[in-house]
Amino acid sequence: MEKTLVIIKPDGIERGLMGEIISRYENKGFKITDCKMIKADREILEKHYAEHREKSFYGELISYMTRGKVLVMIIEGNNVIEIIRKMHGKTNPLDAEMGTIRGDFANSATENVVHASDSKESAEREISIWFS
Ligand code: TYD
Ligand code: MG
Repeated sequence: MEKTLVIIKPDGIERGLMGEIISRYENKGFKITDCKMIKADREILEKHYAEHREKSFYGELISYMTRGKVLVMIIEGNNVIEIIRKMHGKTNPLDAEMGTIRGDFANSATENVVHASDSKESAEREISIWFS
């Protein structure tokens, strides 16, 4: 069964959106097989976001992701990687369709409530980072 790594980011926790977001995954028929709520440190986020190290938004991204707790989950189901990316919507808030999590709850390209793996390779890599 396919697995993906999902994170509800600090703004999602602060705003009390955890229940709403988890319900969407469960209502879609996906299973949350593991989860933990933690304050992520710089070290783990540097691994997680290694591909963005040289980007202009990197510093802002790391300080946002370390400002409060995150909920990290492994979610399992048919085509879960691609379907959850669709459920989350586009990164740019101007492109995130209404009805997606970002379309409904985010207006910033940085504070965008959720993360999900974008391929089988990144799902494996991210699951090993967060649940080693
Ligand atoms: P990215 O992997 O491009 O987006 P996604 O989360 O949709 O896979 O970027 C990772 C995170 O970096 C993104 O969720 C928020 C942050 N980010 C910015 O702060 N500014 C930006 O212009 C971009 C593209 C991303
Ligand atoms: Mg990404």
